[in-house]
Amino acid sequence: GCGKQESAAPAAASAPPPAAAPRVLVVGTDAAYTPFESQNEKGEVVGFDIDVVKAVAQKAGIEVKFVNTPWEGIFNTLELGDRDLLVSAITITPERRQTMDFSQPYFEARQLIAVKSDSAVTKFDDIKKLKVGVQNGTTGDEVVGKLLGKSSTDIKRFESTPLALKELEAGGVQAVVADNGVVAHYLANNPGGGFKTVSDAGFSTEQYGIAVKKGNAELLAKIDKGLADIKADGTYAKIYASHFGA
Ligand code: ARG
Repeated sequence: GCGKQESAAPAAASAPPPAAAPRVLVVGTDAAYTPFESQNEKGEVVGFDIDVVKAVAQKAGIEVKFVNTPWEGIFNTLELGDRDLLVSAITITPERRQTMDFSQPYFEARQLIAVKSDSAVTKFDDIKKLKVGVQNGTTGDEVVGKLLGKSSTDIKRFESTPLALKELEAGGVQAVVADNGVVAHYLANNPGGGFKTVSDAGFSTEQYGIAVKKGNAELLAKIDKGLADIKADGTYAKIYASHFGA
């Protein structure tokens, strides 16, 4: 039969082993994308995306740490298991949905063109005859590829968006196409750069999502719940205001 008895004696010998500490989830981010993600002087990864994921993690009861990860190959790190999550101003696209899963959208963006202040460019079509800088493998790369032809030698692909913008300043390209938030921020912080921006109504809106390995429904559900919670309780609005103003 069952010989178990309640006893007042300390049950040290039969106590279950201490619960394993929850695994810290590794979040990959290409931290050269101010104000969404960048590295500060202390080497910490900071920015809007980082604050959003920290707040989501807190609501979801998960622990996260951020690891600076080059954009090139960032999506493969999910498949390899080197990263559990990606937050990197990643636009949710049908193509990317084939290889990874995305949270609900957390930010809306669109492409924006940066040109020199004296440029004659007034619309996207005007960059057709120019050398154009993009960050390799981004949605900016994709839209420019559609306009100029994917294999056009006039498309200069850079590892990071700041490198593309530096090349615009140096004169190696005559336009850069990238996400509006990053282009606007860069220009605001480089008033001496001699740039202006050109928007085009033809650019479609893009939605940023947090990415997880395809099929990781459990983690995705926690993230979506956390996102819904921070939107509902005002945390998201506070984070937004702290990076983009009210
Ligand atoms: N939203 C664009 C895309 O998904 C650019 C993102 C680049 N992000 C970054 N952290 N470098 O393609």
